[in-house]
Amino acid sequence: MLYITIQGPYVLYRSRTRDEIDEDMLNYVSSIYDDLEIAKYDILGSQAHVIMLYKSNIIKRKDARMILWALQVLNGAEKGAGDGQGDIYHIMKGEHTEEDIHEMIEGEVIRMIGMESGGRMHTGRSRNDQVTLDMRMKIRDDIATLCGLILDAAEELVTLAERHRGTVMPLYTHLQQAQAGTFSHHLLAHADVLFRDLERLSGAYTRINKSPLGAGPVGGTSLNINRRMTAEMLGFSGIVENSIDATSSRDFIIEYMAALAILMTNMSRISEDFIIWSSSEFSFIEIADRLASPSSVMPQKKNPDMLELTRGKAARVIGELTGMLAIVKGLATGYGRDLQESKHAVWRATASASGALRVMIETLPTLMVNEKAMRDATEKGYLVTLDIAEGLVRCGIPFRVAHRITGNLVGLAHQRGIPLNELHIDDIDPAIIKDLKISREYILDIIRSATVDGSLRKRISQGSSGFSEQERMIKIRKSLIKRRKRMIESRDKKVADALDDLEKRVKSITNG
Ligand code: ARG
Repeated sequence: MLYITIQGPYVLYRSRTRDEIDEDMLNYVSSIYDDLEIAKYDILGSQAHVIMLYKSNIIKRKDARMILWALQVLNGAEKGAGDGQGDIYHIMKGEHTEEDIHEMIEGEVIRMIGMESGGRMHTGRSRNDQVTLDMRMKIRDDIATLCGLILDAAEELVTLAERHRGTVMPLYTHLQQAQAGTFSHHLLAHADVLFRDLERLSGAYTRINKSPLGAGPVGGTSLNINRRMTAEMLGFSGIVENSIDATSSRDFIIEYMAALAILMTNMSRISEDFIIWSSSEFSFIEIADRLASPSSVMPQKKNPDMLELTRGKAARVIGELTGMLAIVKGLATGYGRDLQESKHAVWRATASASGALRVMIETLPTLMVNEKAMRDATEKGYLVTLDIAEGLVRCGIPFRVAHRITGNLVGLAHQRGIPLNELHIDDIDPAIIKDLKISREYILDIIRSATVDGSLRKRISQGSSGFSEQERMIKIRKSLIKRRKRMIESRDKKVADALDDLEKRVKSITNG
């Protein structure tokens, strides 16, 4: 058991500024409540830093042992004793005079083990490299969570698509009926968007996964620290080398926020489709009761509030990204306290994105699909007109002429309020086909044989709504999901393994 001395309270950083800070000013400057989210990373970073200081002969083993023990108390892995001790989350929620988590942890360590050992923890680093280290570790974990959720959402989309590869529905442009399509085709489109979101976040991950620790306040340190060693212990793939860049730059946060703004915009688009389709006018789908909200006054109402919130939250994430860009754009190089304002934006954006994905993961498998309404809408519209025109193209007629012939006939049918296949041979104006090697009977044949299902059987271009394309695309997406899952697992495992090793090292020093 280690010898414990309780000292303090310490006002750690105010060596030059003599006046005590008053409560209002402390609340203004303090980031302690935002720091709840990074407390655990701050402890991990400190553990790696202290082990490195000891291995580099900058501090003695006995001091490292004391500090690591105190950090273990703070992260709840060891029981503390005496006044004011306990895990850091408990301490943070209580009354405090510190400006942030960095000051609080160092202060608690010194309170627990005294200045002689505890006062050595902050050797060779600064809050400026510490805070950006914590943010990188936090965002790295957030990306890991989000990637898992994106893949789950994509998997639900593909699963639903597989169930509905034969469910026909109208496809829209300008929100006007355009072509006959399949529900699966629509769902797969959203899945492909999510695959790109996954790639965007994974790309950002490779740039975020670098350690700034040891960059010091801005220009490094005269002590012979080993930055690569701490980077490795914390599971980073390398270091942000230039100490000015490492402490000043926040493009990694901006990149993350931009990826989230795009992700949320995409989630908002899917939500909007579902909201429209669940309206009484469309009635294509019904959202499960538990994902809808009633009205306070109209008993018949079932509102798609969850999906509407995704639309609303997307707007906020776009705002958080804009705020982040604005914080950074005019900042002189070197840490500025403005950067503290970036934290909340990240927490909120992560929460919105993971929430939106969870809502979608719940919505998809519980969605009630009204196949009949979808089919009726498809059959009623003139949605195979392009397929008819292409039938004429196959007879050697130039597309522009085929377009004119079919356009003419659709106009006529629309005027009379009848489907195309009820048109009569006399409806085909002989003048319009005068110079063509095709008879009116043949044209009528093409029109009459053009059915929604027939069209979708003939639709063979790669990536189209055609039935055969649905089969092919679903198969490829399913194996893509498997591959991406493996990739993410092995990426996350690297970090988890490094942190496990770090824990073992900490234990072997504290128990040794
Ligand atoms: N609480 C600060 C933040 O969130 C930590 C870094 C403070 N550094 C400084 N030089 N004042 O950004």
